[in-house]
Amino acid sequence: MRRRASGTLCWLLLSGSAVGALAASAETPDVETGRRLFLVYCAECHGERGDGYGMRQDISYARPRSFQSARFKLSTTENRVPSDQDLFRTIARGMPGSGMPNWSHLPEAQIRSLALYVRKLGADALRADLDAEVAAGRRSAAEADAIFRSRTVPGPPIQVPPEPPADEASLARGRELYREACAACHGENGSPAFGAVHVDFDGNRLPATSLRSAMFKGGDEGEQLYVRILEGMDGTAMPGYRDAYSTTDIWHLVHWVQELATRGDDPPSASPATMEPSTLAATPPPFPDPEIAQEPAEGGRSGWLTIVAAVTAAGLALLLLALAVGSAR
Ligand code: HEC
Ligand code: HEC
Repeated sequence: MRRRASGTLCWLLLSGSAVGALAASAETPDVETGRRLFLVYCAECHGERGDGYGMRQDISYARPRSFQSARFKLSTTENRVPSDQDLFRTIARGMPGSGMPNWSHLPEAQIRSLALYVRKLGADALRADLDAEVAAGRRSAAEADAIFRSRTVPGPPIQVPPEPPADEASLARGRELYREACAACHGENGSPAFGAVHVDFDGNRLPATSLRSAMFKGGDEGEQLYVRILEGMDGTAMPGYRDAYSTTDIWHLVHWVQELATRGDDPPSASPATMEPSTLAATPPPFPDPEIAQEPAEGGRSGWLTIVAAVTAAGLALLLLALAVGSAR
């Protein structure tokens, strides 16, 4: 009896420590865990080797990224290599307005492991390219090392100056700058201008974001928008305005963009036939699909129109008849 009790105790202690060890390994992010999670969650779009050729590669206009390119749209560092926090944020939040889902339901350590693996995919591919160049005598080893570091080690974070108040004056200035610099692509009213289709990294069509859709790949927080406008988005037509405007003007632009985002969708000034390709990716149709929702309403409206037209026609006929009778007398 006693023996059995102590045996049970032993088992409890053992299994307890086993669970503890498991928990500890789940707490510490590591590349191997990241690789395994990647195959389960990410490979269907990003491909098993992270080259962007997964089964669901046609998920949105913006194709699933090839991590072998080691290029990212969303970073807040001086050299565009995303910080750990940048990658964490992107994976956790997803990229609204594209096929990249959000993974915030995963435990933090798993997201960090995934980020490590995504980084490693890029670093390995770059290393292999550089090694080949060194072997072929096209570069010195030291040169290759410098390039490797500059493209894989995150630079210092971009310093975002304190936000000025988002008052009338700031909005007015933001609007003026917007008209000057942004309207050509994002449309006068924040809905992309007709025909303004651009291309991305891989030469695929990538329209300018509808700022009215309030869907920002990197989030709508002032600091994120500030960095996006300052630096642009790597691999897209979205330019950076670091050299064009003062830091205060960039903040005014942020305020105007945030203001546009509160105004709700506004259809771009394009004919339906040509509108579709340039707006689809940036603003996936709201759910439920407005076209489906509108069908009965439109039927109703045309029904009313028929009645109104019939009544008007009958009235006109009566009037003509009365006139004819009057003139005959
Ligand atoms: C349903 C398809 C899909 C799945 C699943 C998916 N992604 Fe993506 N992902 C995309 C698309 C599409 C893009 C490109 C979006 C863009 O460039 O606008 C993208 C882009 C990214 C980027 C680039 C961010 C940047 O700054 O440019 C990262 C990092 C990323 N995904 C990580 C992951 C990770 C990690 C997983 C798995 C946990 C994952 N994705 C699962 C579709 C997917
Ligand atoms: C040459 C065309 C072009 C110009 C000019 C331009 N943009 Fe963009 N912008 C784009 C494209 C294309 C995208 C979409 C990038 C993507 O979805 O990956 C974009 C995306 C954005 C986004 C979305 C960021 C996010 O997190 O998703 C914002 C905000 C933005 N632009 C603001 C501006 C502002 C403000 C200006 C003017 C100061 C401006 N843009 C000028 C083409 C342009």
